[in-house]
Amino acid sequence: MKLVPQSAQPSPDGATPILDIRNVSLHFDEGRAKAVNGVDLRIAEGEFVAIDGPSGSGKSSLLNLIGALDVPTCGEIYFRGQPYSGIADMALFRSRHIGFVFQTFNLIPTLSALENVMIPVLGHSWSAARQRSKAASLLSGMGLADRLHCFPATLSGGERQRVAIARSMINDPGLILADEPTGSLDSVNAQQVLELLIGSREERQITLVMVTHDRSISARADRVIHMHDGRNESLGEGG
Ligand SMILES: Nc1ncnc2c1ncn2[C@@H]1O[C@H](COP(=O)(O)OP(=O)(O)OP(=O)(O)O)[C@@H](O)[C@H]1O
Ligand SMILES: [Mg+2]
Repeated sequence: MKLVPQSAQPSPDGATPILDIRNVSLHFDEGRAKAVNGVDLRIAEGEFVAIDGPSGSGKSSLLNLIGALDVPTCGEIYFRGQPYSGIADMALFRSRHIGFVFQTFNLIPTLSALENVMIPVLGHSWSAARQRSKAASLLSGMGLADRLHCFPATLSGGERQRVAIARSMINDPGLILADEPTGSLDSVNAQQVLELLIGSREERQITLVMVTHDRSISARADRVIHMHDGRNESLGEGG
């Protein structure tokens, strides 16, 4: 039986959190592997939350649940008070509200930088001209105005991740989920990508949940969540 709370709970200040994660678990192999095991977590609008913890502790699994890329074994996640289990078209929900940045960029190799950035809004009612101009403007903001028509294979790792960050923002998301976004980059590119991601999300007041092993990154977060054996504990402000 799937036990779910009846409604999202307001934060102590009375505001509805952007994310309200209630006793969420994700089990594999008929419960033998408990990737996420009873996580309770609320994240406020505009917060920057870093998630750290050892390998295999459930960080990516939790992010996939928050991003509705996986369905919890039990528990419920609310986005601005709306339960995920009641959303009929999850793909449409994701394309409207969530941006994703992955360690390995996840760009489509046969599409140009511009076309990759346009992917999340292809199903929207935007005109082609609006899609292109928004994508071009975001890429320019990432310092890639002269790379719009390049394919991923011809871009450096840092440039690819900047394309991915532009892609994560084209739908004006309320929430960006980033899973070790600097994990594949050298320190110079990692720093540049990080500044662009943190700076852009501050400018647009986007909530950011970032998995990272880098303590210098988590030190800049509003709050650090430490995962251990599928469970979460809060370490409070800035690492
Ligand atoms: N599809 C799956 N089937 C079975 N077990 C899985 C599956 N996905 C994840 N797991 C297990 O769940 C646990 C958590 O995995 P997860 O990828 O979330 O860890 P992580 O904290 O992101 O680790 P890392 O830091 O190495 O990326 C691990 O023990 C993993 O083996
Ligand atoms: Mg992971």
